[in-house]
Amino acid sequence: MKLLTLVALATALPSLSVADKVPSAPVISAYPKSPGNFQPGPHRKNHTGKVCKVKPNLVDAGPSILAAAHKCNNGGTVFLPQGDFIIATALDLTFLNNIDFAIWGNISFKQDIDLWPTQAFQYTFQSASMFWRFGGKNVNIYGDGKGVIDGAGQFWWSAMAEDSSVMRPCLLGTDGLHHATISGIKMLNSPGWFNLISNSTDILVSDMTMLVGSSLPDAPAKNTDGWDIYRSSNVVIQNSRIVNTDDCVSFKPNSTQIIVQNLDCTGSHGISVGSLGQYQGETDLVEDLYIYNITMTNAGDLARIKVWPGVSPDTTGSTSGGGLGLVRNVTYDHMQSNNNDHIISVSQCYYAKNQTMCDMYPAKLVIEDVLFKDFTGTSSKKYDPEIGELTCSSPDVCHDISVSDIKVTTPSGNPPTFICNNMGNSDLGEITCA
Ligand SMILES: *[C@@H]1O[C@H](CO)[C@@H](O)[C@H](O)[C@H]1NC(C)=O
Ligand SMILES: *[C@@H]1O[C@H](CO)[C@@H](O)[C@H](O)[C@H]1NC(C)=O
Ligand SMILES: *[C@@H]1O[C@H](CO)[C@@H](O)[C@H](O)[C@H]1NC(C)=O
Ligand SMILES: *[C@@H]1O[C@H](CO)[C@@H](O)[C@H](O)[C@H]1NC(C)=O
Ligand SMILES: *[C@@H]1O[C@H](CO)[C@@H](O)[C@H](O)[C@H]1NC(C)=O
Ligand SMILES: *[C@@H]1O[C@H](CO)[C@@H](O)[C@H](O)[C@H]1NC(C)=O
Ligand SMILES: *[C@@H]1O[C@H](CO)[C@@H](O)[C@H](O)[C@H]1NC(C)=O
Repeated sequence: MKLLTLVALATALPSLSVADKVPSAPVISAYPKSPGNFQPGPHRKNHTGKVCKVKPNLVDAGPSILAAAHKCNNGGTVFLPQGDFIIATALDLTFLNNIDFAIWGNISFKQDIDLWPTQAFQYTFQSASMFWRFGGKNVNIYGDGKGVIDGAGQFWWSAMAEDSSVMRPCLLGTDGLHHATISGIKMLNSPGWFNLISNSTDILVSDMTMLVGSSLPDAPAKNTDGWDIYRSSNVVIQNSRIVNTDDCVSFKPNSTQIIVQNLDCTGSHGISVGSLGQYQGETDLVEDLYIYNITMTNAGDLARIKVWPGVSPDTTGSTSGGGLGLVRNVTYDHMQSNNNDHIISVSQCYYAKNQTMCDMYPAKLVIEDVLFKDFTGTSSKKYDPEIGELTCSSPDVCHDISVSDIKVTTPSGNPPTFICNNMGNSDLGEITCA
């Protein structure tokens, strides 16, 4: 009798073996800085909820991941164990509520340039698209240092070398995601942007690794931004390593209350605000950013703010520019520079033909209360001894920019200089404007 009960129990148990024990979401928090009243994904107790385990699938894991997300929504965990998952169906995961995704496997997307234009989620904003998108609330997505999202970028960059308009969806997208963590995932060779965080609030991204490498000189990696943030607030990105070829982090229109800390970025275009003010009639806001403790190596720029001047076909050579808005309360603090061309690059004359034209048509998007402090390390040979640029279009629309404690040395050993334009009475500390 006793034995029988045991057997009956054993067969009734879910088919998870001990080795498959689903890990709880890691307990992580924003550190050392955190926005006030920050509420990212929930810290769950041990798994009491359902586990929906998805089988590896080399044809199309999409439908089974979607089914698992529906089944385990409201308290469960979708588990992708070690193994390969090729997705060939775009996944609309914007219905999420109280659910975790434990990704221990390797997720990739079918290499097919004709498929994704019929599948991917497409946005007007910068023609962005996504293979899959996460939205909803109370979600943890974690790889525990095991999970991989492999973008097979070389396939896309090679296709792009033939036809530059090939659609290259983001490797991970959020659209309307609130109270969530994304952690411990290794992301490889994104076709375009790695991550787009849009329409989202209270998002903590931590312990990620993102790597790009092209082996074909004629088909290099393109537009592999680490994170683009758009229409989102209360976002923290931290403790991660990125090797890429475009912005490490980019703050697009309406990014507010964002902290970026403890990142190691190599080969990128830096931590960038913008470009903003490209479109007349639109208002772009980027406010309350704190960028802290970044190590930046072999980049074009380290800290960068790009704003279009006021519109005139002759100012920019196109109809771009003249958009309204504000860049306010932005701090770059404790930056280590290794061999970067410019350590600071502020331009309110983005794509202007020349300074005279920019002065004639100053930007309509104001830059104010920006602080660059505590920069150490080295600059590259490229502009030696120039290590930065501070270009406003007029002090009326660009003020209270402060630069202090810059201890970056040049390869030549000559004292570093900056290009400065229209800086009015901003406090540039001890830097030398050449
Ligand atoms: C999970 O359960 C174990 C053993 O009961 C306990 O030690 C651990 O603290 C629990 N973890 C969480 C996150 O509650
Ligand atoms: C991930 O899976 C894809 C498809 O099977 C494979 O091409 C790729 O090499 C794998 N990547 C890793 C890092 O295992
Ligand atoms: C964000 O929300 C707006 C308004 O609901 C929607 O039009 C847009 O498609 C969403 N996503 C992105 C990336 O803009
Ligand atoms: C950004 O916010 C401003 C002010 O609320 C709004 O007018 C504008 O439409 C927003 N832009 C986008 C792209 O959401
Ligand atoms: C800065 O970030 C690095 C990781 O890139 C970390 O090892 C270091 O402890 C951080 N330093 C401070 C002062 O927070
Ligand atoms: C500036 O932004 C930081 C970081 O988001 C925030 O902590 C601080 O309160 C903001 N300051 C003002 C005056 O808004
Ligand atoms: C600036 O560009 C305008 C428009 O192309 C041109 O007419 C003008 O000569 C340029 N000025 C200087 C100083 O180069």
